[in-house]
Amino acid sequence: MKIGILKETQKGEKRVSISPKIAKQLIKKEFEILVEEDAGVKSTFKNSDYRDIGAVIEKRGVVFKESDILIKINPFDENDLKLVNKGQILMSQLFHKSHPELIKAIAAKGVSAFSMDAMPRISRAQDMDVLSSQSNLAGYKAVIKGAYEMTKIFPLMMTAAGTITPARVLVYGVGVAGLQAIATAKRLGAVVEATDIRLETKEQTESLGAKFITVDNEGEESEGGYAKVASEDYVKRQKEAVNKSLFQADLVITTAMVPGRKSPILITEKQVKQMKNGAVIIDLAAAQGGNCELSKMNKVVRKNGVKIIGTTISPESVSTNASELFAKNMYNFLMHLTEGNQFKWDLEEEITDKTLIVQDGKIRQNGKTE
Ligand code: NAI
Repeated sequence: MKIGILKETQKGEKRVSISPKIAKQLIKKEFEILVEEDAGVKSTFKNSDYRDIGAVIEKRGVVFKESDILIKINPFDENDLKLVNKGQILMSQLFHKSHPELIKAIAAKGVSAFSMDAMPRISRAQDMDVLSSQSNLAGYKAVIKGAYEMTKIFPLMMTAAGTITPARVLVYGVGVAGLQAIATAKRLGAVVEATDIRLETKEQTESLGAKFITVDNEGEESEGGYAKVASEDYVKRQKEAVNKSLFQADLVITTAMVPGRKSPILITEKQVKQMKNGAVIIDLAAAQGGNCELSKMNKVVRKNGVKIIGTTISPESVSTNASELFAKNMYNFLMHLTEGNQFKWDLEEEITDKTLIVQDGKIRQNGKTE
């Protein structure tokens, strides 16, 4: 079976879905690998790196024409769909809940499509979960970006010229990105606090040496590992519990997202006005509207001496590692779906059932084709 690795076309994207190391492992499993010319260059993987391990470098049109499976990171778009052929299998993130028109267009092509972001949150799917592997890097990078934007250092420093107190960091949302942000800020020497609607994250926060700010969350349970929309009452109680820490923070990282929904507003303009002069907010939820009322995607907004940076979760800024992890997730997923180098789909099985969004041109809903 031929696997085609496409070059990403989305603006700013630097990752590639399959690294040379994983391509080599797939070749060992008797898959043929076609790589679109220059697909890996922005992740530091040269065409020759792929050629050296036995992959074939081809022009875009040839990869689309000859592949049985087409893999990319970002959703297949209109231009891609002009080139796909009936019967092919597409694999990428599709964010199908927020892109119903795209899913219809994919189905119209008579293909099957798996969405990596629809991976169920169960233990045995962890090593296929691209959202986790990429969010982890984003959490790390958010702290590094914050450190760069701040006018203060992170650690306590006792010098002959005086003592510098450690920076105070506040993290909203202790999911994968939030946990890595906490760990990274701690490693750099900051005093770190965090809060989350899911009370089970208290122990995780404390195990990293940070303080958890508890908000009484009666009735705000999560759904299958994904957060629910918080009630207005919860948001009010959260503000009361977190304000003291927010107004003392030098760096605030917000990661609170609810899948398929607009991000909850956790920091209002009024709160920003009470924050410290020089504080920085890195809003990783900006793509879905942001956790701070003032956030603007890919913009730096300044208000009363506070810098608010609305950024997407941006693993592409560490594209080498991000590609390596994405590729390993894809490898595990392909191994899950195949035997030898042939597919053995079992639609009764949860991972396959949840991720297969279009089957032979038909959109699937709740495990059945429409
Ligand atoms: P996410 O990116 O969907 O959300 C980030 C965090 O924001 C979550 O912890 C969420 O509870 C929190 N949040 C949402 N609304 C909030 C609000 N109004 N106030 C405060 N916090 C709010 O979450 P992510 O990173 O994708 O992971 C969520 C959980 O799922 C984690 O515990 C993670 O370990 C687990 N997980 C399990 C997997 C598996 O078992 N295969 C795979 C991926 C994640």
